[in-house]
Amino acid sequence: MSFSTDQSVIISGVGSYAPPRILTNVELSQMVETSDEWIRTRTGIRERRIAGPEESTSDLAAKAAAEALRDSGLTAGDIGLLVIGTVTPDMPFPNTACFVQQKLGLGKIPSFDVEAACSGFLYTMEIARSLMLVNGYKHALVIGAEKLSSITNWEDRTTCVLFGDGAGAVVLSLVDEPDIGIIRTIMGADGTEANILCVPGGGSASPSTVETIERSMHYIHMQGNQVFKIAVRVMCQSALDILEKAGLAAEDVALVIPHQANNRIIEALAQRLGIGMERFKINLDRYGNTSAASIPIALDEAWRNGRIRSGDLVLFVAFGGGLTWAASLVKWH
Ligand code: ACO
Repeated sequence: MSFSTDQSVIISGVGSYAPPRILTNVELSQMVETSDEWIRTRTGIRERRIAGPEESTSDLAAKAAAEALRDSGLTAGDIGLLVIGTVTPDMPFPNTACFVQQKLGLGKIPSFDVEAACSGFLYTMEIARSLMLVNGYKHALVIGAEKLSSITNWEDRTTCVLFGDGAGAVVLSLVDEPDIGIIRTIMGADGTEANILCVPGGGSASPSTVETIERSMHYIHMQGNQVFKIAVRVMCQSALDILEKAGLAAEDVALVIPHQANNRIIEALAQRLGIGMERFKINLDRYGNTSAASIPIALDEAWRNGRIRSGDLVLFVAFGGGLTWAASLVKWH
């Protein structure tokens, strides 16, 4: 839904940052009972980036955002709104955006986090877009940033092979032109499936105690094959829904940038949409699943590699813990 027919919100800058430390499948196979072959064939992942102990989510976020600002040609003083999608905040509070505001030297602008797991970046972008159209913020920074290694159980082979750390960011700008930039977003959630993918300990339901730590409740818990089945269904449904609502067809899409969780989920989506894999941006082989950071990191690579041109229709689609899902259509300016 748009609030004004003569204004749009475009992506005017893109950036990303991934910590330099690479953790390969071979290294993981020395830590838990797994193999490079199992991880590659079941997920497509070959390696992931891992942040150092001195790096927090806000450090990763600030580096990605600085790149996006540079790409947009704007400066810190131009930004009127800052929103971050993350499930790995620096602290329960204050929010991570406040740390990033300070690290980037932004003004005293509204700054907050959104928690929608792997759908976090698309949720965040839509919240920022809506606030820009209602309140007239000219430029906003939207970031997806995660240090998933901090909530990963490195002794659990069913989860530790999947995740990585990183951050991606976009600058959004309000323009006096209709039907350009983010032309439509849909979002949804099914709270009845909340328990199949969660960090059960450390919140108000089960505050951290010696017992919760001993039971590894501060780590990601996931019923992988349940998540897999729902992910395929909601990714396909969201992509088809948004195209139908926008009156567009799969053939109109120049590039699909899906959440980077598992190659097999993306292949199922490609088949359902009837779009060849060559029109999908995939980089999960090198980053694993970076939750809210995965889509903006992939967008940054696609943008820098010249895979997006003016006038292209780009489809973003994500699912994540909650379970949440979202899709956005962007007509590149
Ligand atoms: N190495 C070797 N074997 C393993 C590993 C591993 N790393 N992990 C599991 N296995 C074994 C299992 O124990 C099982 O063995 P069994 O048959 O003897 O019981 C066998 O492999 C098959 O296990 P499944 O879980 O059925 O494997 P599946 O084909 O479903 O693949 C996977 C698992 C990759 C996790 C898949 O289910 C998946 O990708 N699910 C979606 C995950 C996802 O996208 N999550 C998003 C979370 S992000 C967020 O919101 C923060």
